[in-house]
Amino acid sequence: TNINILFFLAAYLVGSIPFGSILAKTFAGVDITASGSKSIGATNVLRVVKETNPKLAKKLGIATVLLDALKGAVVLLVAMYFEVSPSTLWAIAILAVLGHCYSIYLGLEGGKGVATGLGVYLVLIPIPTLIGAVVWIVCAKVLKISSLSSLLGLIAVIVSASFLNDGLNVGSNVPMYIIAFIIIYKHIPNILRIIKGEEKKVI
Ligand code: G3P
Repeated sequence: TNINILFFLAAYLVGSIPFGSILAKTFAGVDITASGSKSIGATNVLRVVKETNPKLAKKLGIATVLLDALKGAVVLLVAMYFEVSPSTLWAIAILAVLGHCYSIYLGLEGGKGVATGLGVYLVLIPIPTLIGAVVWIVCAKVLKISSLSSLLGLIAVIVSASFLNDGLNVGSNVPMYIIAFIIIYKHIPNILRIIKGEEKKVI
């Protein structure tokens, strides 16, 4: 229906907002799309801004995670208020993550979908997502590699969701897997670096 199309458009356009690069440019005067991993996520904000201002880097990193997570989650919550179907909600979630990873404002460049994926998963499959978040935090503390921690956290979400059958039932886990696939696909350069032992630690 028409309202669904509006939500799909909103999800992609809001998901596309590159909060990380906006914050880094505005408050630290740096272009994160040209340094570090060139990704627009919180990790690269932290990595690049840290070189000149470690204190600010932490603040901007946290703000980036929160805003990127809110992007998809807010559109989902509005759509829920309008009582759209579960499959429409999952389509909104996928489009928000796609927007973040392939931003219309950045010539289809963007981030890796971790924070935005976290936000939409938290709304749709809260318990598995909380489990994944705990795994992410523990791995980040121990390994100090953001990308690897994100991937392990993502695996924890998928595995626990398959076991718990939590959240919105659209008759299949396919939409959840599509989001996971986008995130993993965008991490291929990280995965190759991890295998070669060349992935940089953030802290
Ligand atoms: O949040 C993205 C993270 O998993 C990896 O980011 O900048 O190290 O490629 P980055």
